[in-house]
Amino acid sequence: MSDPRKVVLVTGATGRQGGAIIQNLLSAPDMAGFNIIAVTRDVASPRALKLGANFNVSVIDGDISQPEAIFQKVGPVWGVYSVQVNSDTEEKQGMAIVDTAVANGVRHFVYSSGDRGGPEKSPVNPTKVRNFAAKYRIEKYLVERAMASPQKMTYTILRPVTFFENLAPDIHGKGFARMWEQMGDKKLQFVSTQDIGRVAAYSFMYPDDYRNVALTLVGDELTQSEAEAMFKAAVGSSMPMAPCPVASTVKFLLKGTVGDMFHWFEREGYGGDVAACRQLYPGMKDFKAWVEDNKGQWLST
Ligand SMILES: NC(=O)c1ccc[n+]([C@@H]2O[C@H](COP(=O)([O-])OP(=O)(O)OC[C@H]3O[C@@H](n4cnc5c(N)ncnc54)[C@H](OP(=O)(O)O)[C@@H]3O)[C@@H](O)[C@H]2O)c1
Repeated sequence: MSDPRKVVLVTGATGRQGGAIIQNLLSAPDMAGFNIIAVTRDVASPRALKLGANFNVSVIDGDISQPEAIFQKVGPVWGVYSVQVNSDTEEKQGMAIVDTAVANGVRHFVYSSGDRGGPEKSPVNPTKVRNFAAKYRIEKYLVERAMASPQKMTYTILRPVTFFENLAPDIHGKGFARMWEQMGDKKLQFVSTQDIGRVAAYSFMYPDDYRNVALTLVGDELTQSEAEAMFKAAVGSSMPMAPCPVASTVKFLLKGTVGDMFHWFEREGYGGDVAACRQLYPGMKDFKAWVEDNKGQWLST
């Protein structure tokens, strides 16, 4: 007898968003009737081994630059969760997996993109930030290919704002915190990757409700100095930050990516509706809740 469970292929499964979607599906009763195929380039990594220890999760070796080879390893796939990392090949990879999904009869495709100024601006605003513009073009391609697909593949585009998880205790996190502080009174919007995973899981569990929509995901909006008080209350010390000249130099040297992105944060910025999002998804983390849940990483350093 064939397995009646729907198969969802998750790219970036060992990463922040992909990991969160799997965690959210795992906590649904009977995994909401899904089997998950988790894609990684290293099936022997600790994260991959941990994923593979879960019932109904199969970990497979694959490179998203060759999506056809991934699909050839597995049987029919009902749903795809697609995420790429920022790189010169992001656009090519993002479009190739759309093509492969269409060719393999996938029914529902979830693409993790990024917000570009809210629901009105995002569809018409590629921005000058390189990886934001790549996501804009992948979105357009997905919509076009899904609409024209023989199976009428449906899609959900998730547009998260900045991840709270950027604020890690490492050098990257310290640099990010300083660049945020350098924005002064301009607020920055944030969301937790756990909440992105939650909404991505819902979009597979309730595909009719998430059919052909694009959603900006945001949990809070604040300046670094507003966050500082909450950070101090939770952690007991100031938010660690890289020295100003280091942060400014990084923005200058990485002008096409980090530099342009912070320039955009300051001049334009995300356009998520925090209250509406939190109403739609009760319990969505704001900074206070996120730092409280994650303070252990600073306390142990
Ligand atoms: N950081 C933010 O604030 C923010 C905000 C909005 C949007 N975004 C977007 O989020 C995306 C990154 O998502 P994330 O932070 O969840 O990623 P992540 O934690 O960096 O994880 C990415 C995963 O992708 C896998 N991967 C990378 N290259 C691959 C390849 N060629 N083939 C197969 N797998 C590959 C890696 O798995 P293996 O090593 O196991 O293969 C890795 O675990 C970027 O596009 C970024 O622009 C980020």
